[in-house]
Amino acid sequence: MARKFFVGGNWKCNGTSEEVKKIVSTLNQAEVPSEDVVEVVVSPPFVFLPLVKSVLRSDFHVAAQNCWVRKGGAFTGEVSAEMLVNLSIPWVILGHSERRALLNESNDFVGDKVAYALSQGLKVIACVGETLEQRESGSTVAVVAEQTKAIAEKISNWDNVVLAYEPVWAIGTGKVATPAQAQEHISTCFHYVYFTVGRALQNLSIAVVHAELRKWLKDNVSAEVAASTRIIYGGSVNGANCKELAAQPDVDGFLVGGASLKPEFIDIIKSAT
Ligand code: G3P
Repeated sequence: MARKFFVGGNWKCNGTSEEVKKIVSTLNQAEVPSEDVVEVVVSPPFVFLPLVKSVLRSDFHVAAQNCWVRKGGAFTGEVSAEMLVNLSIPWVILGHSERRALLNESNDFVGDKVAYALSQGLKVIACVGETLEQRESGSTVAVVAEQTKAIAEKISNWDNVVLAYEPVWAIGTGKVATPAQAQEHISTCFHYVYFTVGRALQNLSIAVVHAELRKWLKDNVSAEVAASTRIIYGGSVNGANCKELAAQPDVDGFLVGGASLKPEFIDIIKSAT
């Protein structure tokens, strides 16, 4: 089954209204593949959502970076799914590792959030990913399977879910090496071999985890859901490594952080396969 390539831009806690307008102006002028080829969703901080939505080109869409786990009310500081729907914000990122770590969002809590957001008509980018410690202990697949299970137990329809595999150790670290990066640092053939092997293993590890996630969906949800659900990668994606990463089997797109604030985000959109 063909899965439409998906490129998300997670702006995180960044920007001023001037900077946001400048980013949107760059995006609006970009020549990119049509919506039939790639789905583009940018996620500004809450305070800029109405502004971005009002000026962004119509073939790109917006996402909130979070929403509350139930109907709004006495939850100071929270933003409810109903509010996002009221603003016609179609997407929301949930379960991002930064929130899991900084705000102690448990797997169960993330599962409840995904279920509630979907029940209110939002589309969800649901994030899973292991820490460096979990990877080094060999528990990557077990961890992301557990995180996915906590979502699967709470929802019955995956049509509006995009699963984002974001290894915590690759977020903001530049750890996904590419030929270009290897070339910059090569001083001897040893380094080249080291980077090449390292990169291959890194890309292999991404391909393996995506395949394992798709297998988990097939074994625990259904073959149809496994075939149709987009599994996207996040973690130091940039204009230099996006083509190679997009070619990895089972990589259906990206969730981009730092590079989504820069013009190279357009190159990442163009890497759509
Ligand atoms: O949600 C995407 C983000 O966590 C990836 O960040 O800066 O490594 O692309 P970055």
